[in-house]
Amino acid sequence: MIQALLNIVHNASQALSERIEQGDARIVLRTRVARQVTIGKQRYRLALELHVEDNGPGIPDSLKERIFYPLVSGREGGSGLGLTLAQTFVQQHQGTIECDSEPGRTVFKILIPLP
Ligand SMILES: Nc1ncnc2c1ncn2[C@@H]1O[C@H](COP(=O)(O)OP(=O)(O)OP(=O)(O)O)[C@@H](O)[C@H]1O
Ligand SMILES: [Mg+2]
Repeated sequence: MIQALLNIVHNASQALSERIEQGDARIVLRTRVARQVTIGKQRYRLALELHVEDNGPGIPDSLKERIFYPLVSGREGGSGLGLTLAQTFVQQHQGTIECDSEPGRTVFKILIPLP
């Protein structure tokens, strides 16, 4: 889980270089407990919801549908493995990961069942 979060936050920080120069870069991590959630086909009484939000430029439309695939990168020198690995790690905990992105607001949402 730590590695999954590091990969997502690392991407956010890389997307924020312009904002960092302007002095208004922002990454927000939110956690909350969700009740009675369905993940895949399974119903869980409790789940952890974890959001990572940044105010960077957003994910280009040309990449949006493919960012979790291996070797998909929009960065010079990027290997395109960070999100693939993050998704693998989350799935190892029976969880899901999804993304909403528009210019100025990108959110990665992790949902993981709690015992
Ligand atoms: N928060 C974000 N804001 C804008 N674009 C993003 C964000 N997160 C991911 N991306 C885009 O998705 C692509 C894929 O991310 P991913 O972490 O899988 O690979 P990478 O960062 O290019 O390489 P690495 O394997 O070093 O992580 C990034 O190259 C970037 O274009
Ligand atoms: Mg990355």
